[in-house]
Amino acid sequence: MRLLIKNIKTLAGILPLDTERLCGEQMQSMESIDGAYLVADDGVISSFGPMAQMGDVEADEVIDAEGRVVFPAFCDSHSHIVYAGSREGEFRDKIAGMTYEEVAARGGGILNSADRLHISSEDELFEAAQRRAWRMIRTGAATIEVKSGYGLTTEDELKMLRVIERLREALPATIKATFLGAHAVGRAFKGRQQEYVDYVCEDMIPKVAEQGVAEFVDVFCDRGFFTPEQTAQILECGKRYGLRPKIHANELASSGGVQVGIAYGALSVDHLEEANEQDVLDLKNSSTIPTVLPGASFFSNLPFAPARMMIEAGLPVPIASDCNPGSSPSGNMKMLWSLACIKMRLSPEEALAALTINGAAALGLSADRGAVSVGRRADLVVSKPVPSLAYLPYSFGEELVEKVVINGKIVCTNE
Ligand code: NIG
Ligand code: FE
Repeated sequence: MRLLIKNIKTLAGILPLDTERLCGEQMQSMESIDGAYLVADDGVISSFGPMAQMGDVEADEVIDAEGRVVFPAFCDSHSHIVYAGSREGEFRDKIAGMTYEEVAARGGGILNSADRLHISSEDELFEAAQRRAWRMIRTGAATIEVKSGYGLTTEDELKMLRVIERLREALPATIKATFLGAHAVGRAFKGRQQEYVDYVCEDMIPKVAEQGVAEFVDVFCDRGFFTPEQTAQILECGKRYGLRPKIHANELASSGGVQVGIAYGALSVDHLEEANEQDVLDLKNSSTIPTVLPGASFFSNLPFAPARMMIEAGLPVPIASDCNPGSSPSGNMKMLWSLACIKMRLSPEEALAALTINGAAALGLSADRGAVSVGRRADLVVSKPVPSLAYLPYSFGEELVEKVVINGKIVCTNE
């Protein structure tokens, strides 16, 4: 199966095949070609270049991208799209002045979602999550990480992870699963946080590993949630069972999450709204990737993570959606592109690197996706007609994704 995309106004996001993450000033370095073509064979990019060099190409499918920008599809390395219902009641409470922590302390927040998830069937959860995932695909994502964490009992955590498995089978996107049993203390363990941590380690993790339903282990390591010591216990146990750490850290406070993540070889530490200079220095001396979630800062009215400082320090910064019902109910990566530029002062090119190759790196997948290279997967977005690449984040809120190509196949066309 051969796909040809021709007459591309700008083909952006080009990298050498052996570049697996972009650090610091390299984030500005993805190349582009004006007036380009691209060919993919059996899902893999096999050639691209200026139109003048295209020659005669026969293809099974042809996209004429006249006036359009083509760029690597987004890799969303952090989401919580399996959930039941929604939480706009808490949205009202927050507008009226309550903080995220106050909502949680009163038994709302994550526990609210856990109650609803408990009474939902696997089929209901799957249908709702599938709709959300399709919305993410239609807005340009081809790789999506999905976390458990609204179960908070072994049975319900496994129910969520089975739903994630079904998403993987049903969707054209690549789906990665993360076990987040330590997202909050389950209701049955109220006031017995350490016992809950022991339950996560002794009951949940062995079963999750035995059933092979997750690749990563996550902990909400933050003020009012889990301590660095408890996080260490869970990561240690997860690692024994072959689960690689990827954690929530420093969203609400500079709470030692970054350091515990680094100590346990976390692939990424995510959020970092409260990260400080010491955290950035420590990250600099590690291979742990700092992932920022501008949708959570926007929706929850939190500070934006110091992404600019991280880039100046030479770190590889990914951007992910954190799509979840409490702190960021959107998986629209194009909107995050705008937020990264406007609120974090990333250039349009740096933000594109954060949304693509560095997101893939935060999932250990960047060897074969996240950029335009001969030999990488043909996971691509074809925009609507636009004046330039920068118009995409500039025109925030405008739906500008026309086609999404995953594995060399057009999976959706937006009107
Ligand atoms: O990443 N911070 C922790 N977890 C989610 C929010 C979960 C929720 O409120 O439902 C997040 O923001
Ligand atoms: Fe999250």
